[in-house]
Amino acid sequence: MVAWNLSWSGSLVRHAQRRGLVPRPGINQRKTLIMKTLADAFEHTLQDIYYAENALTKALPKVSKAVSNKKLAKALDQHLSETKDQVKTLNKVFKSIGKKPSGEKCDAIDGLIKETDGIIKEAKGAALNAAVIGACQAVEHYEIARYGTLREWAKILDHAEAHDLLTSILDQEKAANSKLTNLAVSTVNGK
Ligand SMILES: [Fe+2]
Ligand SMILES: [Fe+2]
Repeated sequence: MVAWNLSWSGSLVRHAQRRGLVPRPGINQRKTLIMKTLADAFEHTLQDIYYAENALTKALPKVSKAVSNKKLAKALDQHLSETKDQVKTLNKVFKSIGKKPSGEKCDAIDGLIKETDGIIKEAKGAALNAAVIGACQAVEHYEIARYGTLREWAKILDHAEAHDLLTSILDQEKAANSKLTNLAVSTVNGK
């Protein structure tokens, strides 16, 4: 591949890049961290969830505006405010391990947000409220999985402060998920 690229003149390569035939540096190419140790995996996963939480602070207002159930909208707004605090808590986690906060594109959360956008476009009334709860619970379960893993890794790596901070976020995600279950059972999942 390298030899093939080198055999092209600069203008040919640029032409091919414009047509999407070869990746443009910095646009289609993702800087990949090669993970070798548990510390690498911990940092990478932390960047992944940092990206996810930031993406959710942008996505949640649209979701709470779209639903018609007032209790659900309120629960989503409350979780938006928790999510903003979680970003601040993650900043502290990065600091506690001597790293600068940064995000790594997370395809999983992008997919879950895209799916929720689709529901908002395709559903109405009771179906919309119920389907939004389902989609938001998929996000909470994703977060619970990530924070469960991260806090255990933090413990193994002797990052006591990071372990406590990540546990506090994990508890919030579990509570948010339970709240959504209660809302679904008590009010939203009617006929
Ligand atoms: Fe979160
Ligand atoms: Fe959450």
